[in-house]
Amino acid sequence: MRTSFEELRAELQPEIDRIVAQYPQRRSALLPLVHLFQDRIGYAPPEVVDYVAETCGVTAAQCESVISFYTLFYRRPIGKYNLQVCRNLSCTLRGAKQVMERFRERLGIDHLQTTDDGLFSYEEVECLAACDRAPCMQVNLRFVYDLTPELVDEMIAAMRAGAYHVKPLAQTEPPPREVRGPAWPRAHRKSAGAVGVPNPDNASGVGDRDGSEAARRLRREGVAALAAPGRFADAQTIDAILAAPNDGAVMEGHG
Ligand code: FES
Repeated sequence: MRTSFEELRAELQPEIDRIVAQYPQRRSALLPLVHLFQDRIGYAPPEVVDYVAETCGVTAAQCESVISFYTLFYRRPIGKYNLQVCRNLSCTLRGAKQVMERFRERLGIDHLQTTDDGLFSYEEVECLAACDRAPCMQVNLRFVYDLTPELVDEMIAAMRAGAYHVKPLAQTEPPPREVRGPAWPRAHRKSAGAVGVPNPDNASGVGDRDGSEAARRLRREGVAALAAPGRFADAQTIDAILAAPNDGAVMEGHG
């Protein structure tokens, strides 16, 4: 059972005051304040959003949009080791695919999942701006360069043994299997974003480059859903989608 938010806030008040005083505008303290709470709680729950928003003089929606934008903030409890492997071009050219496959195989989880023992969360992310040392990743936001499948094995063994050099994240609640999802009671008020989207190639749920998402929705919701005002489909497109192979295999077959 973690300390109540009010108790934690009271304990951190001197540090909060110090951070806020560093900036001419209070809103500039938003990122360091979320970091401060996340370091202690292990993620940024709704109480943090509300408190930081009020402290920084922004709306809760603005604070929430910042937290959901950065992969370095967590909106749900996650594993003690957050493994974020770069899947972008330089890393892919230098063997990231083999590295990602090794992580998935050894941990028994997929992109944006947490192991049942709560030790590892795994995510494939975009360019980490360390392309000269590709393939690379971050463990709890600390860089690891020049990855190989063998190095992955060594890292996992060291983490399991409690001997890895990067400190585990705080974990005040058992993490759910899925890293993202409707964890916040008010999540329904927001765009669904990546909620329930299994494919990192289409993490925002928009774009639909190959039309397979449209095909799936069409079969699920019917033609009216796609042909509604503001939607993209015309009769010709709908015919093309219906003629396409079923089941969205293109999207779900990806990484
Ligand atoms: S492509 Fe991986 S760090 Fe840039």
